[in-house]
Amino acid sequence: MSEDTSDDTGVVRRERFSGGPARGFLSSLAADERIFHADLAVDRAHVVMLAEQGIVDDDTAGEILQALDDVEDAGHGALPDGEDVHEAIESAVIDRVGAEGGKMHTARSRNDEVATCIRYRLREDVLDAVENTIALREALVDVATEHTETVMPGYTHLQPAQPTTVAHYLRSYEAAVARDTARLLDAYDRINQSPLGSAAFAGTPFDVDRERTAELLGFDSVLSNSMDASAARDFLAETLSALATHATTLSGLAEDVIIFANKGYVDLSDDYSSTSSIMPQKKNPDTLELVRGTAGDAVGGLTGLLTTLKGLPRAYNRDLQRAHGHAFDAVDAVADATDVAAGAVATATWNAEVLASEAADGFSTATGVADLLAMAGIPFRTAHEMVAEAAAKANGGNPSVATLDAVAEEVLGASLWEYVTRDAVEAALDPAESVASRDSQGGPAPTAVAADLETAASELASDTDALATRRDDLLAAADELRTEVARFD
Ligand code: ARG
Repeated sequence: MSEDTSDDTGVVRRERFSGGPARGFLSSLAADERIFHADLAVDRAHVVMLAEQGIVDDDTAGEILQALDDVEDAGHGALPDGEDVHEAIESAVIDRVGAEGGKMHTARSRNDEVATCIRYRLREDVLDAVENTIALREALVDVATEHTETVMPGYTHLQPAQPTTVAHYLRSYEAAVARDTARLLDAYDRINQSPLGSAAFAGTPFDVDRERTAELLGFDSVLSNSMDASAARDFLAETLSALATHATTLSGLAEDVIIFANKGYVDLSDDYSSTSSIMPQKKNPDTLELVRGTAGDAVGGLTGLLTTLKGLPRAYNRDLQRAHGHAFDAVDAVADATDVAAGAVATATWNAEVLASEAADGFSTATGVADLLAMAGIPFRTAHEMVAEAAAKANGGNPSVATLDAVAEEVLGASLWEYVTRDAVEAALDPAESVASRDSQGGPAPTAVAADLETAASELASDTDALATRRDDLLAAADELRTEVARFD
């Protein structure tokens, strides 16, 4: 199993430890398609730096850079066999340039190389995921803005609790997704640090310029300690954790809308529904069920990743080859789910009449009546007992004003009208009035939600800027790398 071969480029290739029967098991070449372009960028930045530092002469650098263009044009599928994309690209360069092509791998290892490639690729994927969270938030804010007056039942324990509005409900999810955006942007900033130049883990005697390769690849900074730089994968855990958290947020939104569709509160657009192959009348919320189910993939991926990372010794271990796939799978699945959720929210129709007619069901205005009595000076606990007593007398329905007055006589020994006006009690029993009265900051009153939606809009604008800045930085770095490569033409 350990014979060496010599090909027509005169390059002697060592076949020792090439994997033998385990070759396929060892290989990540197919999965590495995801980092094919990343690896070419990393190779280019490294070669430019090697030439600038005088480690490789300009002519050799030029030939290697030309070969890398050819390899990119030919595509991942045209790569020679190899244990991974890094080895295969190096072989393809040597095939084109000859033995001098092997200088590309001076002062680096596949360990710092793969770590750099994962970060280079994942940061783009995370920005796409961020973009989708922003689009979902825009959809939530847009629909909310139309429904600040649309009263609906609000629930705790899935039991009618207090009336609220569609706008208040939707903004509750917008606020959660805003934190998901923030978590992803935080994760991005720690992904976007360069491990390149740390070599296997122990640095290199060559006079590499790690800041320069970081700059050419658009990384914000260099991961300093070379052992940490090549071995660290906590950025994957952080990213997947942010994705799993976001998927969990989405699963709650999806679940609610599925329930609301079941109750006739909301109609999903046909584009986001499916029918049954046998039951012709069916319109099923399948897309939202798959959004809900995506949390399972993301949480499973996070668990798989952390289990892989747990207890790994320093520095590089091949287990790490199985780590990043979890993050790539999750970022794809979750970004898709976010996109579908945004579409479903933007195109759904809220049935204001059905919502209004059910908003007071289950005596959901009870808390408001108790609040009214407490505002008139009755201790809140006494008011709570009085309204509970009235609710019991109403047998699951809504008590009349007369019932409330009768309870006041029993509990207080006085008429209700010594404390509050009949109009005020009637208003407290009305779901729309009940909502309008709760105008504390962030409350459901149309004025309060309108103010809160302005806050949401300004946070959206600043996150949109944060995304654009990061994208612009990456584009500028890609331009700079292209310009530097072109100098070797
Ligand atoms: N394919 C490997 C990975 O994904 C690249 C690093 C290989 N390094 C090594 N020492 N065998 O992790």
